[in-house]
Amino acid sequence: MVSVTASRAFTAGVIGGTALLIGGKWKEKQGLKASWTTNHNTPEPLYKWDNNWDKRQHIPGDGDSCDAAGDKGPGQPTAIRHILLIRHGQYILDGETDEKRVLTSLGKEQAAETGQRLNSFDFPITRVVCSTMSRAKETGSIISSHLPESVPVEYCSLLREGAPIPPEPMSSHWRPEAQQFFQDGARIEAAFRRYIHRADVEQKETSYEVLVCHANVIRYIVCRALQLPPEAWLRMSLHNGSITWLTVRPSGNVSLRAVGDCGFMPIDKLTTT
Ligand SMILES: *[C@@H]1O[C@H](CO)[C@@H](O)[C@H](O)[C@H]1NC(C)=O
Ligand SMILES: *[C@@H]1O[C@H](CO)[C@@H](O)[C@H](O)[C@H]1NC(C)=O
Repeated sequence: MVSVTASRAFTAGVIGGTALLIGGKWKEKQGLKASWTTNHNTPEPLYKWDNNWDKRQHIPGDGDSCDAAGDKGPGQPTAIRHILLIRHGQYILDGETDEKRVLTSLGKEQAAETGQRLNSFDFPITRVVCSTMSRAKETGSIISSHLPESVPVEYCSLLREGAPIPPEPMSSHWRPEAQQFFQDGARIEAAFRRYIHRADVEQKETSYEVLVCHANVIRYIVCRALQLPPEAWLRMSLHNGSITWLTVRPSGNVSLRAVGDCGFMPIDKLTTT
């Protein structure tokens, strides 16, 4: 009896130990390395900056005839791009349709403050691109009324609000269906790829573009642009009318100059709830 029990215990121990071992390895391989959210004491090569993140890096000898001379050649971007991402103003949350979810009067005042702020930078703004949702279009038109008339205003449905990627940690009160993430995720990633990349080779001057869109879109774009775990997006919070500023250099280096900047907004116009 004793030996049978001991033998069972031994067997159980071996199986348990194996499970533990497999579990540990699985965690290490799947859990730790697949999740970008792990706290690492020692950075691994996997987490190094990918300089060719936008696939626009000039690679010498890659079909470019000017490379033989050893100069930069026409394949090398030279201009700097500044992208100013604006969150729309406060809006009527309980409107039944998008057309009814328009800016509140405070939301319009916020948009005006943001427009004045952008104008006072005196940047040669190249264009304003608005999401096609009512609150973003309205915010964009108020902003553009404070900018020189020559600045074109465009509209893009890729910038509409949505659910970019399941956030980590999960939110207790915001839990879209998996299908929502599946659909919106690809579209918001497409917005990132369309608007955030180094300058075209033809671009000679520094450019300043204003994207008027939404908190989830902006937060996801910030994570992607900085090569941070994209599931971290919900850890940030952005005020209505705030300015988030990314700079993409010809080298592919990216810097976040401001996130959710609203220091220019008079305190009584800040919405915090
Ligand atoms: C912005 O306004 C919306 C209502 O339009 C509100 O739900 C949200 O909390 C506000 N956000 C901030 C950070 O003020
Ligand atoms: C890109 O950024 C890194 C880190 O700040 C810096 O060391 C490097 O010189 C930058 N590259 C260029 C081409 O500016």
